[in-house]
Amino acid sequence: AAYDAGEHDSFMRKEMLEQPSAAERVLRGRLDERFGTGHLGGLDMDARETRAIKRVKILGCGSAYYVGQMGASLVEELARIPADAEAASEFRYRNPVIEPDTLYVAVSQSGETIDTLLAVQEIRRKGGRVIGLVNVVGSAIARECDGGIYLHAGPEVAVASTKALTNMFLGFALLALQLGRVRDLSIADGKRLIAGLSRLPEQIQEILDGEEALAALATDLAGAESLFFVGRVRGFPVAREGAQKFKEISYRHAEAYQTSELKHGPLALISPEVPTIAIVPADELTDRNVAALHEIAARGGPLVVLTHADVDLGEVPCRRIDVPRSERELDPILLTIPLQLLAFHAAQVLGHDIDKPRNLAKSVTVE
Ligand code: AGP
Repeated sequence: AAYDAGEHDSFMRKEMLEQPSAAERVLRGRLDERFGTGHLGGLDMDARETRAIKRVKILGCGSAYYVGQMGASLVEELARIPADAEAASEFRYRNPVIEPDTLYVAVSQSGETIDTLLAVQEIRRKGGRVIGLVNVVGSAIARECDGGIYLHAGPEVAVASTKALTNMFLGFALLALQLGRVRDLSIADGKRLIAGLSRLPEQIQEILDGEEALAALATDLAGAESLFFVGRVRGFPVAREGAQKFKEISYRHAEAYQTSELKHGPLALISPEVPTIAIVPADELTDRNVAALHEIAARGGPLVVLTHADVDLGEVPCRRIDVPRSERELDPILLTIPLQLLAFHAAQVLGHDIDKPRNLAKSVTVE
């Protein structure tokens, strides 16, 4: 074949390992170090138009939707523009109000997902402006949008998306940086983020180099019938994406919750049979998150904690994964990578077809 998994046992593994180089490609030529901003040729919006944006609405399906949530946080934090993400598959059915001063962003690896494409068409029909964050050049969504950002992840074959998602996050970071720098993001913060972005490929590599320890942990998790993935604010879409990957290829029931919501219901399900994977970055919520870990541990729930080396988890019994630390706004993408490896190795232990999980297609092109 013109494109094959080469020496790798699966496309998913090949594509996970390609992430450092894919990340370099999406950033290449798009960082303006002098002004601490992003430089996106495909955006075609001058500073005045950019300043007139009152809201950013991100649309995607499945994992692209979850990364869209990470993107919304980036836009809101860096550009201070209200931003949110919505499942593109629902959007057109609720007769959405299309606002002229909203920037709509469609996010898709394949560029062919029918639900995302129809959302774009609904917006354009009502006179809204949509840009695309798309991997496949010349795809239907890329053609329908008013410009956008190509993700340059290279071909992605495995149904479970990995490198394209990472590049989606980086695309959103570039967009947020560019929007932020024509608004209130300082040049110092812009430069701080550019330095952070430039370090990411190396840090992703560092996580991939720790694959063996994650594989051992995945072997234990593969035995569980049901798992929780929890995180807060920036960490919540990370948990959603982690649960998504896990259920897609391991076929285990994996559910994502905001850590803060546990006590409002799901805590009833915590038991020694139900492991929780908790996202606990070093940030303004660390203490609250650690308190929640104690609640889980008190009910006998086995814990895996994705965190940073400088976080003090106290005496809480858990298996700890220290993830390299970036700038706090960029941490979500580094926290996502170990979750890919956990899902991958759990599925492998269970003997599943990693690249073609049952019931799923790489891109959903029919309604
Ligand atoms: C990702 O692992 C999934 N297979 C799936 O959720 C995917 O992200 C979704 O179907 C959207 O696909 P797209 O990015 O090609 O639009």
